[in-house]
Amino acid sequence: MRDDIETILFHEQTILRRLDELAAEITNEYADKELTVVAVLNGSLMFMADLLRRVPLPLRLDCLSVSSYHGGTESSGVVTFDQLRMPDINGRHVLILDDILDSGRTLHAISSKLRAETEPKSVRSCVLLRKMIARTTETEADYVGFDIGNEFVVGYGLDYDERYRNLPFVGVLKPDRIG
Ligand code: IMP
Ligand code: MG
Repeated sequence: MRDDIETILFHEQTILRRLDELAAEITNEYADKELTVVAVLNGSLMFMADLLRRVPLPLRLDCLSVSSYHGGTESSGVVTFDQLRMPDINGRHVLILDDILDSGRTLHAISSKLRAETEPKSVRSCVLLRKMIARTTETEADYVGFDIGNEFVVGYGLDYDERYRNLPFVGVLKPDRIG
């Protein structure tokens, strides 16, 4: 599996150090607020576990499962929700956690659906990675771990065709491993 990686972008220790900072910001912001974290599965699993253990607040945690990729490295553009019911977030401050912000369609679809079907007090988002590509303001993230170029990355939760999620670091796949 390690042989399939061309370059490591962020080692585990680098990620964890950045999570200390992100967690401090989030703890500060939500100290006096009723916080519900909505994590987007499966990509945010590692990020969620490591980040939230650094946030000493009485938050609630819900997970949502969506898909927009269907095996390749390009998003299909259509965001499908795997469950019918949205988490109960009426009157709560919501922080959506996802692994990566690419086109922004996933975060936009989730926050729109949460706002349409429930009455949260606020909805913000936090991603481990953000690709530096053009996006509209409504698809931006509020908290970002690291900015990266427009390249396909795997590891620390991120997959290519459901593989590589268990790598402890974030890296770029060798081009000949894609396809
Ligand atoms: P968006 O809806 O285009 O912002 O895409 C977000 C989703 O696509 C993320 O939740 C990831 O699951 C997936 N994704 C986007 N870029 C990558 C990547 O470089 N590697 C792995 N998954 C990615
Ligand atoms: Mg994914």
